[in-house]
Amino acid sequence: MADHDTAPKKLFIKTYGCQMNVYDSERMAEALGAQGYVTTEQADEADMVLLNTCHIREKAAEKVYSDLGRLRPLKEAKPELKIGVAGCVAQAEGAEILRRMPLVDLVVGPQSYHRLPEMTKAAEAGEKTVDTDFPLEDKFDHLARRPKAARGPTAFLTVQEGCDKFCAFCVVPYTRGAEVSRPVDRVLAEARDLVERGVREITLLGQNVNAYHGAGEGGDWGLGRLARELAKIDGLDRIRYTTSHPNDMDDELIAAHGELPELMPYLHLPVQSGSDRILKAMNRKHTAEQYLRLVERIRAARPDLVLTSDFIVGFPGETDEDFEATMQLVEAVGYGMAYSFKYSARPGTPAAEKAAVAAEVADERLQRLQALLTQQQRQVQDDMVGREVSVLFEKPGRLEGQMVGKSEHLHAVHVRHPAARPGVIGRVRITGSAPNSLAGDWVDG
Ligand code: SAH
Ligand code: SF4
Ligand code: F3S
Repeated sequence: MADHDTAPKKLFIKTYGCQMNVYDSERMAEALGAQGYVTTEQADEADMVLLNTCHIREKAAEKVYSDLGRLRPLKEAKPELKIGVAGCVAQAEGAEILRRMPLVDLVVGPQSYHRLPEMTKAAEAGEKTVDTDFPLEDKFDHLARRPKAARGPTAFLTVQEGCDKFCAFCVVPYTRGAEVSRPVDRVLAEARDLVERGVREITLLGQNVNAYHGAGEGGDWGLGRLARELAKIDGLDRIRYTTSHPNDMDDELIAAHGELPELMPYLHLPVQSGSDRILKAMNRKHTAEQYLRLVERIRAARPDLVLTSDFIVGFPGETDEDFEATMQLVEAVGYGMAYSFKYSARPGTPAAEKAAVAAEVADERLQRLQALLTQQQRQVQDDMVGREVSVLFEKPGRLEGQMVGKSEHLHAVHVRHPAARPGVIGRVRITGSAPNSLAGDWVDG
């Protein structure tokens, strides 16, 4: 309980990595809220600093240590400051973090967040704790519920966690554990609660969100069926989901894209490489051709769907020919946007044992791939000019009088009109395309 004689304690959370961490950070802030912590945007006025970390690439993990180093003067000036490390680096390195960074008070892995309240109390009493267990209970059931405060128009909702795919390069199956889905009724209850608080768009999250198989009426439900049920909620106008694995796109989910107006015509479907040899070495369990056929089937269900992806260049053994196959796949699909990364060897993963591609070669490939992806992104955006889209407005833009929101295709759209306010969905005619956003004129609400 908060001590009413003193000012509330302040919590600063820094979030690295994927949207699942963003969601977890929100839930941790709410859980610690029940212990009297209010969030602050400034680390230097905090009583507790929590770093919610990412282990996906070496740079991401090392950033955490440099950020911890930068907290040292703060802790020296204010020894009662508590410092916690959560997320995937916490899971991967556990007690090693305390050895390397003695200023850290608690280390908590992603499946143990429901232990955070006790761990915080221990930290306040001067005790250091580490918890990286994979308990069987659902951590979200044990975290204090979100207060009934109003929310912005969009929200994340984690429905699935963990990954059983074991791609040869990836740490996620080790940091997040096996695939687990939250039961249907819990997801629906949380979605209804969000809608009551002003949310109009929900993005369902999972490391492999389309592997969702939550317990529901009559047995396990897939993501397509879950989306259908969510679409019935009055006031929930838009549904998105991320991230999907190609091998988990089942017929029901593909059909839902053709039938549910609430399911937005946007799909992040990472392929990583266009070379069958590399896909095999990556343990992706599908070929380039199978991916292309899948894209055709999804586009047949929803022709205006915008596709996005992730790519890794310089995976061990990648030849010029393999890389050209990736460029050809990109040409064949035509992406609305994509992330591309230089392969980073991660300790404990099978690929880390193999000889790396020369850094200059990988750099050059990354530049060529990014140039092609940027060109495609620009093309898809330019094609929107003259079209009418629906925009869910979220917040003021950088320029005076401007509002910014997202189209169905997740393009940021800037509009100037008195009716364009946060939470409003309006029809907008696109008039211009800039590198990362569109501009448009209000048509009607
Ligand atoms: N579960 C999701 C996201 C995984 S992490 C999926 O399967 O798509 C997000 C992206 O990071 C991956 O899609 C991959 O492109 C990239 N990534 C993962 N491990 C990596 C590594 N060791 N080096 C470089 N990029 C990596
Ligand atoms: Fe990592 Fe592959 Fe699982 Fe995605 S599907 S989280 S890339 S192991
Ligand atoms: Fe990073 Fe963990 Fe997400 S490694 S990408 S924070 S699942």
